[in-house]
Amino acid sequence: MRVIEVNDYYELSQKAAEMIIDQVRKKPDSVLGLATGETVLETYAAIVNDYQQNQTSYRHIRTFNLDEYIGLAADHPNSYHYYMNEHLFRFIDIPMSQTYIPNGLADDIPEECIRYEKLIGQCGGIDLQILGIGRNGHIGFNEPGTSFDSTTHVVELAHSTRKANSRFFSSLEEVPTHAITMGIATIMKSRQIILLASGERKAHIMSQLLEGEVTPNIPASILKTHPNVTIIADKEALSLI
Ligand code: GLP
Repeated sequence: MRVIEVNDYYELSQKAAEMIIDQVRKKPDSVLGLATGETVLETYAAIVNDYQQNQTSYRHIRTFNLDEYIGLAADHPNSYHYYMNEHLFRFIDIPMSQTYIPNGLADDIPEECIRYEKLIGQCGGIDLQILGIGRNGHIGFNEPGTSFDSTTHVVELAHSTRKANSRFFSSLEEVPTHAITMGIATIMKSRQIILLASGERKAHIMSQLLEGEVTPNIPASILKTHPNVTIIADKEALSLI
């Protein structure tokens, strides 16, 4: 794993955006794996900014999101469908038909997981996957203890994850209890991975990740065995190392 230490969240976002834009310029039909959450917000804003200034085209890319809550409609303000439209898709020239996010309202959720996993393969796999990291080391919604062999599946969210994400909802009760997430094996098949970590609230998990061993108790630790992973982290996130 290559670690790029940056001063702050602004620099992290600029660096991440630059790497994504480079990928799309080099390979205009790239398949990107996208994340949601607070950390990637400014990365998307920087991509939009570049798009407006330099007209980098996203017409031929395809995107796969890591995860989606079960039970929230695409137009629910807390769904990841809504998040992606609101923060990225509506500002760039990507056709919506080339953006894929698990359907958390599918009648047959296990079948939806199989369909999603297959679709990633049919599109040739992910060239560049962007990841955030949960405070307990989760990637996507793969909570501690998830098998490293997992493919897209249903998860019951850890209480700590629902609590952490309740800041986007009006109460903890409103946070869905389940989600669909790409599995760890799905993520590990990506040809390149960038993991972003910003702020003091990620310092503890980053020290566990960088200084500890590979263990399912810290799902992100499996990234150490991947040949092409870049961590972009700011000083605060690395402050316990
Ligand atoms: C969420 C998402 C993850 C995200 C992580 C960190 O639960 N499912 O994909 O990377 O937690 O979120 P944040 O960037 O808000 O800290």
